[in-house]
Amino acid sequence: MDWNKLGFQVVPTKTMYIARTDDELNWQPGEFRPYGMLEIHPASGVVNYGQSGFEGMKANRAVDKKIVLFRPQDNAKRMQQLAERFLMPPYPVDDFVNAIKKLVIENRKFIPPADKGSLYIRPVLAGWGPVLGVAPAKEYMFYAFTSPVGPYFKGGVRPINLLITDFHRAAPRGTGNVKGAGNYAASLYPLRMAKENGYDEVLYLDAREDRFAEEVGAANFFAILKSGLVVTPISESILPGITRRSIITLAKEHFEWEVEERDIDINEVLSEAVECFSTGTAAVVTPIGSVTYRGTRHEFSDGKPGEKTMALRDRLVGIQTKQYDDPYSWVVNVT
Ligand code: PLP
Ligand code: COI
Repeated sequence: MDWNKLGFQVVPTKTMYIARTDDELNWQPGEFRPYGMLEIHPASGVVNYGQSGFEGMKANRAVDKKIVLFRPQDNAKRMQQLAERFLMPPYPVDDFVNAIKKLVIENRKFIPPADKGSLYIRPVLAGWGPVLGVAPAKEYMFYAFTSPVGPYFKGGVRPINLLITDFHRAAPRGTGNVKGAGNYAASLYPLRMAKENGYDEVLYLDAREDRFAEEVGAANFFAILKSGLVVTPISESILPGITRRSIITLAKEHFEWEVEERDIDINEVLSEAVECFSTGTAAVVTPIGSVTYRGTRHEFSDGKPGEKTMALRDRLVGIQTKQYDDPYSWVVNVT
C-alpha cells in the first residue's frame, strides 16, 4: 500500500462487523466477516425509504505506538439519537464501542503511519427487512467497516473555498441534527454545483430566514471575529459535531479565548470574520480561504490558513495522537 497516495476513498480492508435484530427487534450477538458484499431484500426499508444513517470515526497511531480512538462513546450515543428519530432499535453504547475496538484490531494492518493518515471507521444502522407501505422495517442491521484515509480535501490541509447556493441542507424540526443518510443524498446536487464552479464545498444557511450560517457540507462552521471572539452556530438543524464540541472546549480552556455559540448572520461573517474554519472527523480542522455569496467572493486571512485556526488544529491533532496531554480523557486506547 502506498501511504503517500491516500485520499478519502473506499479501500477494502480485512473484516467487517455485522449484527442483526431478531423477530422481537432485539440485537443478536454480532460477528466478524471477511470484508465484502452484503445481500439485501429489494423492498428493504433502507433502499426504499432511506431508513438508515451512519457514524464517522478514526483510529490513529499515537506517538507511543498505541492505537487510539477519539471519544468513541460520543459516536455511539449520537447513533442512538439517529435511531430514535428514524424509529430504529438503538445499538447499545457498550456493544458499539467494543465492536469498533475489535474491528480496529482486526484491521490494524490498514492503519496508516502516524503522519500519513488514519483508519476511518464507518458504523451504519439500517432498516434491512422488507416494507411496502411507509413504515419502519421489521429487521435491522448494524454493521461497521474501515478504510485507510488521508486528507478529506484533495491537496491536503489547505484553505477551502466555499459557495453559498440557493439550497438548504436541513430545516428546523427536520433531520439535520442526526446523521441520516438522506441528508447527504440531498446535499449532492448543491455540492455538484459548487464543484462544477471551482469551489470545494457548500456553506449552508438556515432554512427559516436564509441568513444564518449553519454548516459546511459534512462539517461544522466556525468564525473568529476581528474582536478575537470565536463564534459557531447553534441551531436545531445542524449536526452536533464531536470535533465542534472538542474545539469549543480547547478554545475556551486551553487558549482561554472567548467563545459564543449563537446565531451568526452571514453578513457578520463577511464583514467581521478574520479567520473561518470547518470541523469534523473527516475534515479535522480545515481552514476556509473564501466564501462566495451572491456573486461576491470574500477572502479570509488572505486566503492563507489562519494562525488561530492552525493552533486549534495542532492542539486537537496533538491530543488525538498523544503528542500533548489529554486532560479530558478523550483518547481511548484500543489495545
Ligand atoms: N456536520 C455534518 C453534516 C457531518 O456530517 C459531520 C461529520 O460527521 C459533522 C458536522 C462533524 O461531526 P464530527 O465532528 O462529529 O465528525
Ligand atoms: C465524518 O466527518 O466522519 C463524516 O461523517 C463526514 C462524511 C460524510 C465524509
